[in-house]
Amino acid sequence: MPVQRPLKKKATTVVSEEKRRSSKAKGDVARLARARADQKSRLKILEALEEVGPLLTTHDSGQMQQRAIAAIIRLARCEGGALLLIDPVTREIYFNVALGKKGDAVKVVRLMPNEGVAGWVARTGESLIVNDVRVDPRFSNRADERSGYKTRNLLAVPMTVRGHCIGVLEAVNKVRGKFNELDMEGMTVFANQIAIAVENNRLYETLQETFLSTASALGDAIEAKDAYTAGHTRRVMEYSLLVAQVMRLPAADQDAIRLAATLHDIGKIGIEDRILKKPGRLDPEEMAVMRGHSVIGEKIVAGIPKLRPIIPGIRHHHEQYDGKGYPDGLLGEAIPKMARIIAVCDTFDAMTSDRPYRRGLPIDTALQELHRCTGTQFDPHVVQAFQTVFDRGALNDILRQYQADRAATAPVTAVPVSESSAT
Ligand SMILES: [Fe+2]
Ligand SMILES: [Fe+2]
Repeated sequence: MPVQRPLKKKATTVVSEEKRRSSKAKGDVARLARARADQKSRLKILEALEEVGPLLTTHDSGQMQQRAIAAIIRLARCEGGALLLIDPVTREIYFNVALGKKGDAVKVVRLMPNEGVAGWVARTGESLIVNDVRVDPRFSNRADERSGYKTRNLLAVPMTVRGHCIGVLEAVNKVRGKFNELDMEGMTVFANQIAIAVENNRLYETLQETFLSTASALGDAIEAKDAYTAGHTRRVMEYSLLVAQVMRLPAADQDAIRLAATLHDIGKIGIEDRILKKPGRLDPEEMAVMRGHSVIGEKIVAGIPKLRPIIPGIRHHHEQYDGKGYPDGLLGEAIPKMARIIAVCDTFDAMTSDRPYRRGLPIDTALQELHRCTGTQFDPHVVQAFQTVFDRGALNDILRQYQADRAATAPVTAVPVSESSAT
């Protein structure tokens, strides 16, 4: 009998070894399944990044942010998501994008610096999972109260650029289960990419503003030479942009037209004062010199690479639809579209503006002149678009401002005469 004892012990050892192996095998299978699930999730993150990726380098920051938040909601399987930015001046935190139920309502809320989970994340620069907001003192329910939304749980990660937190990404209300490390990992990848894109966009906008105000200052420089053309550049720019919008031109073309209209007469800087400031009508010889301003303008902007796309608007803004304009006598559609638009707006403003030797025409008369010269001097589509802008009342503010400026200057005593050509 005692002989059997070791045998029994051996049998027990074999059974427990089998059990151990079996449970190890089960553990391995579970780990493998988890690893596969993790891999699948990471693959989805990569796919989503690939989808949003091309938008990261565009200047349409709004669309990029919307798509990124939609991808986060999908990946984290939650009800809503938001992109909050920190106001660089007040340090308040505001919802730049909020998707999901009550997304629009929550967007009016501005959090104080350090307020709520977003404030904590912004201050510490750390990510945070709150799986029950009722027991976390960092949660602020102000956004919920304002929007009527009920937050149960959330995941927030910082958007950091060069060590500075510029905003926070939030995923709200996991549909099933709890937010986990993998959700956080995915959000962090997005946050890093979006942060760089948002910062790049801010830098681009600042650069663009600086560029436009420099261009505008250049445009004003010509007006400083001639008091009678005060406000002309700005009005032509505003009219041209409105016409381009009615014609539904792409945003990039509208930007180019705005710039081209701002600088259309820049070449007048090169015209001697004796002619530019002459208080009466120009004789043919002087007129020929004056006409050189469109080519001089082209030469001025040709030296600035960023301004090259607007050269057609500057060189050709005095071409006529029937080919009788200058400097090249281009005909119809051969005249660049931006130049055809500026030509109508430039002439309208020239007709309605006072000159040293005549008072500006009434608005209705100037509009009739545009129609009278449609198809000869002007592109009919542009004249029609200008009429539409006028009919919609879009010119009212600009014209009212002009009348106020005009009343503030000394009255013109010369006899009114009709003039339908701009310079
Ligand atoms: Fe002009
Ligand atoms: Fe001009």
